[in-house]
Order: sequence, then structure tokens, then C-alpha cells
Amino acid sequence: MWPMLHAGASSFLTVMPPPHIAPLSESNFQDALDIVQEALPELNASAELLIRRSVLAPGYLPELALVASCDAECCGYMQAFPPIAGRSDGYITLFAVSQHCRRRGIATALFYEAEARLKQLGATRVFIAPYGPAYWIPGPEPVRHTAATQLLEKRGYRVCSRPLAMRTALTSETSPRFSAGVFCSPFCASDVFDIQELMAEFSEDWKQIVLRTMEEILRGLRPAGELMLARFNSRVVGFAHVEGSRFGPFGIRAELRGKGFGSVLLTESLREMHQRGHNEAWFMWTGDATAIHVYTPCGFTETHRWAVFVKEISG
Ligand SMILES: CC(C)(COP(=O)(O)OP(=O)(O)OC[C@H]1O[C@@H](n2cnc3c(N)ncnc32)[C@H](O)[C@@H]1OP(=O)(O)O)[C@@H](O)C(=O)NCCC(=O)NCCS
Repeated sequence: MWPMLHAGASSFLTVMPPPHIAPLSESNFQDALDIVQEALPELNASAELLIRRSVLAPGYLPELALVASCDAECCGYMQAFPPIAGRSDGYITLFAVSQHCRRRGIATALFYEAEARLKQLGATRVFIAPYGPAYWIPGPEPVRHTAATQLLEKRGYRVCSRPLAMRTALTSETSPRFSAGVFCSPFCASDVFDIQELMAEFSEDWKQIVLRTMEEILRGLRPAGELMLARFNSRVVGFAHVEGSRFGPFGIRAELRGKGFGSVLLTESLREMHQRGHNEAWFMWTGDATAIHVYTPCGFTETHRWAVFVKEISG
């Protein structure tokens, strides 16, 4: 059980009843959404997004979508995901507590519950929040999410990486880049076999994004330019996925990296986005090396610096 002694505004310790924790359901869904919208307005959470990143996300389990309530009022929400088959890393992708219910141990109670359930499901570590298919942000932004950062540190989480988000304005002045033998063009149906082979080099969630995008393009639901391909010696050697003005994921076949192919593909994707009417391109997550060598020369600047946290729960 979680601690229930709380030092409130006064110096007297008061005993707080533990919150009731129930799975996300039709009856508490709107309350959970209201909590996320109030606590994290920068996420622009909509009902559709919350459904996609919880109930419809790969690996979703009702017992890991936790809604806390006190005196029958919903006051906190936490979304966790179990380890992917054969692995032992669990994930917490979102947590939020209503403003007027903070510093009463609600988040603490949610963490106790989620960590215990993840442990039962075979997790030995919990990450916040790099869960590919359904992440909101790659972890708190310490300068903005100060309470969350303090809470995680208090609960024994440590920072394991500091990815960054970047953006760039798109103008007609973006000049093309060249690298011998590589050229870029949008996906077409005959590329599927090459792409299937290429995606074997990348993570399962990237593969799923690219497969879904090919399917949506072929059904006429998305423009072919949302999957740009780098071609070399008549083979597909790289892909760049775009959704609206969001760029990524993006990757070049491992044996061909370091030859400037990635920069050519990035530039061609940005030019294509601009031609389709977008004025900016942004993404949520990259590392410093890629930021310096690939994105900064193409005009991207840092917008957010996240902290990915991890905690061992095997003990
Ligand atoms: C982070 C958040 C969920 C904490 O919820 P909470 O129910 O108030 O947290 P708890 O009461 O369980 O706090 C547990 C401990 O965390 C730390 N903590 C929490 N809020 C803090 C704050 N504002 N300042 C400093 N430390 C804080 C304290 O150590 C606290 O223990 P204490 O009260 O005994 O000192 C809440 O502030 C929130 O919803 N913030 C916005 C959402 C967010 O940033 N989510 C993370 C992004 S995914």
C-alpha cells in the first residue's frame, strides 16, 4: 500500500483516504480526458487521441489504464504498457492529477499500483515514457514539468537519456542536396517488397507505422509523399515518414549510413511537404548526434528537451 500520511499546508499530519483506482471505461473516460487536458494542455489531448494512445494502442491492457478517484470524484489518470513479448521493460506513458487534488498522494498511489501490476506482468524495469507506438512525449520536460520531475526523482527513477524535439520553417528556398547515385521519390505500389526487406532493419513499431502508411496511401487516404523513399542502385535504401507537418520516423539502411543519403532524403521530404502546403516541419524525438549532423544543417532548431526516466523494479 502507499503512504497515507500527508503534511498539508499546515504542519499537522492528516490521514488521507487512499484513492479508489479503476480501469479506464466508458463511464470515467470523459473525466480522465478532462484531467489530462487540464494538467497537460500542451499535449492538445482530444478524445480521439486519448483513445488511440490507450485503448487502441498495441499492448493495451485495461488493468494498466488507471483512473484514480476520491469521494467518487475522478482526480488522476495513469497509462502504462506491459513488456513487449520476450522483453522485460514496462512503460508509463502518461500521468496526471487534477490541480485541486495535488500533493495528496494521488500520483504516488497510481505509481504504486502501476509498478506492482507491471511487475506481475514480468517487468523488471519501468521507463517513462519511450513507448514507441503510443507515447505522448518522450518523458517530462524538466523545465516545464517540475512537479513530475521531482516526483519521479523521489520515487527512485533516474534520467537515462535526454532526447530533443526540433522544428523548422519550410520555405521555397530549401535547396536540394545531392549525394552520388541516390535519388528520392514518393512511395508507389511496386516498392512494397523492397520496403518490407528494408524495415527488417528497424524496430517493430517503425515497421508497423510504415506498413500502415503504405496501406493508407494505397487506399487513397493519404498522399504518397507522406512516405518518401531514397533509391540507390534501383533499390529502396531509406524511408521518411511524414504525417501532416510531423516528420519521422526516418531511416537509411545501416550499411549505407554516413554517405549523406539521410540528408538528401530529409531535404527532399521537406521540399515535398512545402509543395503540399505545409509551412513548418517538426518532430518529437532525436538524439544529439543526429540533431547536430543531420537536422541542424537542414535548419531545424531545438524546441523541447525531454528527460527519459527509468527505474529497476526487480528487487
Ligand atoms: C506530477 C503530478 C502527477 C503529481 O501528482 P500529485 O498527486 O500531486 O503527486 P503526489 O502527491 O503523489 O506527490 C508525491 C511526491 O512528489 C513530489 N512532488 C509532487 N508535486 C510536487 C511539486 N509541485 N513540487 C515539488 N515536489 C513535488 C513530492 O516529493 C511529493 O511528496 P510530498 O508531497 O510528500 O512532498 C501532478 O503535479 C501533475 O498532474 N502534473 C502535470 C502532469 C505532468 O507533468 N505529468 C507528467 C508528464 S507525462
